[in-house]
Amino acid sequence: MPTTSTSTIQRQANASVANLTDYDAALLNFSWHAAADELLDTFADGSLNITYNCIDRHAEGDRADKTALIFEQSNGEHEQYTFRDLKKLTNQFSNVLADLSVKKGDRVFVFLPTIPERYIAFLGILKLGAVAGTMFAAFQEDALLDRLGDSEASVIVTSPELYPRIKNIQDKLPALNQIIIVGRGQYVIPAGKGIISYNDAMDAASESFEPAHMQNDEYSYMLYTSGTTGKPKGIVHAHYDILQAMVTTKYVLDLRDSDIYWCTADIGWVTGVVYGTLGVWGLGGTNVIYEGRFSPENWYDVLEKHHVSVWYSAPTAIRMLMASATNPKSYDLHNLRHLASVGEPLNPEAIWWGLDVFGLAFHDTWWQTELGAIAVTNLPALDIKPGSMGKPLPGIEVAILDDAGNVLPDGEQGNLALRASTVSSLMKTVWGNPVKFDSYFKGEWYISGDSAVRDSDGYYWFIGRTDDLINTSGERVGPFEVESALVEHPAVVEAGVIGKPDKLRGEIIKAFVVLQDGIEPDEDMKHTLQQHVKHHLAGHAYPREIDFIDHLPKTRSGKIMRRVLKAQELGLPTGDTSTLESY
Ligand code: WTA
Repeated sequence: MPTTSTSTIQRQANASVANLTDYDAALLNFSWHAAADELLDTFADGSLNITYNCIDRHAEGDRADKTALIFEQSNGEHEQYTFRDLKKLTNQFSNVLADLSVKKGDRVFVFLPTIPERYIAFLGILKLGAVAGTMFAAFQEDALLDRLGDSEASVIVTSPELYPRIKNIQDKLPALNQIIIVGRGQYVIPAGKGIISYNDAMDAASESFEPAHMQNDEYSYMLYTSGTTGKPKGIVHAHYDILQAMVTTKYVLDLRDSDIYWCTADIGWVTGVVYGTLGVWGLGGTNVIYEGRFSPENWYDVLEKHHVSVWYSAPTAIRMLMASATNPKSYDLHNLRHLASVGEPLNPEAIWWGLDVFGLAFHDTWWQTELGAIAVTNLPALDIKPGSMGKPLPGIEVAILDDAGNVLPDGEQGNLALRASTVSSLMKTVWGNPVKFDSYFKGEWYISGDSAVRDSDGYYWFIGRTDDLINTSGERVGPFEVESALVEHPAVVEAGVIGKPDKLRGEIIKAFVVLQDGIEPDEDMKHTLQQHVKHHLAGHAYPREIDFIDHLPKTRSGKIMRRVLKAQELGLPTGDTSTLESY
């Protein structure tokens, strides 16, 4: 198997995981149907609503005064919201939208920094039955235009600081007619077309609202995610998809009523939506959100100050913590009892480090935006083989297929695939792109685009992507988006972009750029192009390395052969180049 480690971490029958037998029993008899009976509340007509399940039912029951949200601000102060508070606030926000004539199925996007209003708006949109889209605050105009244009969003919720980016593209967005501005502290509501003050509108809104009754497969949230070709695609999920989020938060992340939970992901990405919002609140848990930037000291402070007990994070962050001189043992982190990781391969060293400094193993979890929730994982009760993603979640059927769709035997590397009908939270469509949606499936199988291998014990081991998609610090970046941003610069003729392996970030973005005649290929030009991508596409999606070259390897039909660029970069054989234009 692709690991250097031979040891297995035995299932942790210690204080960190109580009730193992309960878990085993529940999972042994697992069925989606029984899980829905246990975890979901539906209305008398059989319909449901995510926000009713996340907020209202807790506010109407024993958890009304339980802390739902702890907001740790970047200045070190914090705010707390109970389920009762969040019910009132989401009701008000649903009313704000209803007053703006937003209807079921309309797209409303949230483009805010990490503040409570980001969650209130998101849940208020779902309560009304509109489709909620989230966007990472680092997105710049190109990325925003792609998403708001394709989804034809009619309303966006943003902040005074982020609004100028929307203002600059507003003319190109005919469907966008209302812009709700959330101000905190000292702020000025900017003047502009369609502007509404969040605080004024909330003050005027009624505190009662009847959640929309949604059918299981009616749309809830959408997230634009990068693919290997073309612009990002809108992956659309349904209200019923909360079920798998809750099942996995309960059985994989091991969340209990008494826990304080922190998922470090931003709600602009799928992990922040599903595990920073739906799963934890579906179960009535206490959720920490953190406004500040990453630093080992800041993160350990958050863990210590709020007595975090369940922590869901990502390999790049863990590797940055490992590399830092700050010693976690100098903090009081005794409340931690369960750790999990997602987004990139979790290297065995990170697990050994966790065991050393926290006395706990990080449990790897694997899934994708399209899948809507964890699908392959290390359950608390499973022996961990460091370097492996673990086993399929009970209820989900996973296989390794060859390119023709045949199931491969254990030990053979191939396409990681899931039987579509067994993934409860699988995406419902790709917005406006049924051809793309269909392209994910081969017969009854959903093809993930990852390659993997299964060992004879049934554990899955991640190998890599089968396409050119880049995963940098756990964030998905499509090479085409970066290439498009680069060629917008007048000095650039064309560009090819790859993911280059990196010890810390998993991969970094590397660009090969052909410059216009007469432009100096120097360090200044590299810096200019990096800034250009940061300012037009997104802060995280710029190429950390740039090489200037004379021409790009292309097929005769003009397609850039990124595979060849990558092989050259890594000093590997370039493979079959017979279809190349010139080589
Ligand atoms: C990668 C994030 C290795 C994988 C939830 C997948 C992983 C893509 C793991 C999805 C893991 C996610 N080990 N690779 N545990 N988890 N990936 O849509 O390539 O942002 O296809 O969803 O991240 O990224 P996405």
